[in-house]
Amino acid sequence: MVRKKENTATEVLVEEQRVFRPLPETVVEANITPSEYRKAIKEGERNFVEFWEKAAEELEWFEKWDKVLDDSNPPFYRWFVGAKCNIVYNALDRHIKTFRKNKIAIIWRGEPVGEYRKLTYYELYRQVNKFSNALKSLEIKKGDRIAIYMPNLLQTAIAMLACAKIGAVHMIVHSGFSAHALRERVNDAKARVIITADGVYRNGKIINLKEVVDEAMIECPTVEHVIVVKRSGQPIDMSDGRYLWWDDLMEGASDECETEILDAEHPLYILYTSGTTGKPKGVLHVHGGYMVGIFRTLKWVFDIKETDIYWCTADVGWVTGHSYTIYAPLICGGTTVMYEGHPLWPKPDRMWQIVDEFGVNILYTSPTTIRMLRRFGSELPRRHSLKTLRLLGTVGEPINSEVWIWYYENIGKERCPIMDTWWQTETGMLMITPVPVSLLKPGSTSRPFPGIHVDVVDRNGNPVPVGKSGFLVIKKPWPAMFRTLWGNPKRYKEEYFEVIPGGVYTTGDLARRDEDGYFWIQGRADDVLNIAGYRVGTVEVENVVLSHPAIAEAACIGVPDPIKGETAKIFVVLKNGYLPSDELDRELRQLIMKRLGPVVIIKAVEFVENLPKTKSGKIMKRVLKASELGIDPGDLTTLAD
Ligand code: WTA
Repeated sequence: MVRKKENTATEVLVEEQRVFRPLPETVVEANITPSEYRKAIKEGERNFVEFWEKAAEELEWFEKWDKVLDDSNPPFYRWFVGAKCNIVYNALDRHIKTFRKNKIAIIWRGEPVGEYRKLTYYELYRQVNKFSNALKSLEIKKGDRIAIYMPNLLQTAIAMLACAKIGAVHMIVHSGFSAHALRERVNDAKARVIITADGVYRNGKIINLKEVVDEAMIECPTVEHVIVVKRSGQPIDMSDGRYLWWDDLMEGASDECETEILDAEHPLYILYTSGTTGKPKGVLHVHGGYMVGIFRTLKWVFDIKETDIYWCTADVGWVTGHSYTIYAPLICGGTTVMYEGHPLWPKPDRMWQIVDEFGVNILYTSPTTIRMLRRFGSELPRRHSLKTLRLLGTVGEPINSEVWIWYYENIGKERCPIMDTWWQTETGMLMITPVPVSLLKPGSTSRPFPGIHVDVVDRNGNPVPVGKSGFLVIKKPWPAMFRTLWGNPKRYKEEYFEVIPGGVYTTGDLARRDEDGYFWIQGRADDVLNIAGYRVGTVEVENVVLSHPAIAEAACIGVPDPIKGETAKIFVVLKNGYLPSDELDRELRQLIMKRLGPVVIIKAVEFVENLPKTKSGKIMKRVLKASELGIDPGDLTTLAD
């Protein structure tokens, strides 16, 4: 079912030939109809400021804006200037006055089998109020930074919302990060409090988070208190006067708390992400524009309805967990599932079991998760009915068409459209994505969301022709965009807005656009090989390798070659039941030769057990490359193992 499409020797592309038209039942029920979608695209093209203003009108504000967008000092844009709001008012307070008061807001699933909790909007609201008061009792004020070092626990959601409610700024550090990484972030943000747990469950083991915090605390001068959630219950030392139990703080706290009236540009959270240099970047998001962007995208793209059970599998330590596990589903008044643990625990069908257990209708996950689960075959999902699913999503990496089709057939049972959503920590919200009524092309993230202006350009900022790859840039500001890098506006300006001429935002990704205006993301700009002057996207090589029935995962890196400049080395993980062999090595090389042509010169194929990954599951090719070349791998704080 794949076709070879030859433009030039450099761009021999492998594409799935089938396209997937929206199903009639999806079109009938979608939150955005095909004609509304077409209209929205036109409106967003004609006047994106007005387009976003209309979206903002659907939310509640204490005071409306004087101006929608202030672009007088680019790239420091301000949205909904003069408006007063609070994201928590939209996520909780307003629902309490409606029938949603007693609707389930969060279904929390612990990793141990059989453990779950359901919290209604009213219960969540009161818990948040109590914790807001607990923070106030520690003299936490508007603008103070609070570090949260916990995975998907209910208390994590409560803590985030409580910070936002009183105007404090949360800064979540992924619970898999080391003490060093935690300390570095806490000190950079000058956090006054760290919130953590005694121990948490991960893949059948208890991870002692408090111990990591102890180690970080050796050098965290700004931290006055550490609040500890009792999760696993093993004995821990709480003798340090700065350490407080969550439950003790909550016990006496009142369940009434005024929501702080904030400027629309008031900081909501800092989330650190790695860049090309060793030092992590603190991406800063604000209340007003962010809530508008994530609300509009979740409602249209994930089509969330009052009756839906929605599950985004992301950890809250990542932007997807912030925007699409917690904030946006609550703003939409939905029911969101939070899962504490590992997708393979206790068996590799855990995700399918949870879908059936709660009757999940919308499932949003990552290509790595899908590839990992696909490795165990189609038999496991077949043991579960999965009949409640109606919409699927993916984010984080390019999804190759074979995996897309597997997801579509085996999980969605050919009745769930797949939303392949492209976006970044910095963008805060989905940027290039289909909607349920779009025609889908496996492997393409479809078209820019209405109101988002995207282009593919060369180094000088000139648009490249259709079908050619170039740098993916965003030409106009959008409401959920990050406002700066914490404490480093210079780096914000230089790294994102001055790389390519014209003041555009540089995403760091490569992409090409096809004749229908669909985008094909080709990986990071630094993931492109130059083999004898020919440009080869490593993702394209990986996609070919992944189409071989024996391959579960693949990563391609460039290695220096004295004659060709660079050649490709491919690391592969085999599916269960396959063994490395010279024959398989030969087959893979032949497949690449056949699909991509002789320009892709393969230096070696190496069979490995695992690939180095970030905790969010992205393959860290930088680490492979460093070990291959015997050089310093740089910042390893995001590495999972
Ligand atoms: C990549 C995650 C292809 C891309 C929300 C981007 C994708 C980086 C997709 C951001 C997608 C994200 N298809 N690639 N659908 N979504 N990416 O900041 O390289 O963790 O620049 O945000 O992930 O990763 P981040």
